[in-house]
Amino acid sequence: MAYTIAVEGLRKTYGATPVLDGVDLHVPRGGVHALLGPNGAGKSTTVKILTTLVAPSGGRAVVAGHDVVADPAAVRRAVSLTGQYAAVDEVLTGRENLVMMARLRHAGRSAARETAERLLARFDLVHAADRAVGTYSGGMARRLDIALSLVGDPQVLFLDEPTTGLDPRSRRDVWTAVEELAGSGVTVLLTTQYLEEADQLAERVTVLAGGRVAAEGTPDELKSRIGGETVQLVLSDVGALAAACAALDGQGRIDESGMSLHVTTDGSAGAVRDLLQLMAARDVPVDRVAVHRPTLDDVFLALTEQVAA
Ligand SMILES: Nc1ncnc2c1ncn2[C@@H]1O[C@H](COP(=O)(O)OP(=O)(O)OP(=O)(O)O)[C@@H](O)[C@H]1O
Ligand SMILES: [Mg+2]
Repeated sequence: MAYTIAVEGLRKTYGATPVLDGVDLHVPRGGVHALLGPNGAGKSTTVKILTTLVAPSGGRAVVAGHDVVADPAAVRRAVSLTGQYAAVDEVLTGRENLVMMARLRHAGRSAARETAERLLARFDLVHAADRAVGTYSGGMARRLDIALSLVGDPQVLFLDEPTTGLDPRSRRDVWTAVEELAGSGVTVLLTTQYLEEADQLAERVTVLAGGRVAAEGTPDELKSRIGGETVQLVLSDVGALAAACAALDGQGRIDESGMSLHVTTDGSAGAVRDLLQLMAARDVPVDRVAVHRPTLDDVFLALTEQVAA
């Protein structure tokens, strides 16, 4: 299978410090792939190497069929980058920004206008087209930023933390824009520190920690890696706890409070019912029941802790 982004054993060192230590990444054409990781994980470094802004120290990276080291110019023609910090001109209007970008990319005057109108409509910015960008909300400015990076019709779009610093509403607006984009056949590599964002937008997620890949898979696969749902039984006293443990034959895990048992289940209602019936049959008084489903946050913490250890 030919991948739009194929990265093997990618390394980057600054001085003696390894920042990327053998990263593999394979992204098929179309759709959104998330590169998830905490501060300093190496997300931006990866994106900079894949967009030819920084040279790798080792390994191989091929983007849209071109090697980033052997043929950086071809890579640059195929990709576009929306960096971690917005690149819009705040004095110009949204429309002027887009026209200027199209002209910089050698579009004729009327073609540049057409491109601007098309992108303003696509990113829901028509109503604000003639306002200086300095008056835009954070979400609008980010949408314009993404629109600007699409002026040259790139095959691959890199979005480095597109929603960092945005309020929840603006974040949702950007998500909608990214979802639409991915639907149009562009391959999007998105970096984020927000698990919710990776869960919402990406078909697959690569978790980066300390310059290495800690995990890779669909959001659901990653969640299932740290186990299924657990049912928490809250017991009223130590006697009840002991009786519950005995009934479960050592399957439950006692939590820090010392009064709860956590039992892994398949997440079905039947499993909860069976558990409660078992407790009733043994006369174990259960105070409360809660069901916990692992979130991507749990996965992320579990994985990045493993790497840090
Ligand atoms: N030009 C440089 N010189 C030296 N060290 C660098 C340079 N660029 C990045 N680093 C280091 O590389 C590591 C990874 O940085 P990078 O910017 O790739 O992380 P990141 O995952 O994008 O983090 P963030 O979420 O904060 O944006 C950090 O420890 C950083 O200090
Ligand atoms: Mg970064």
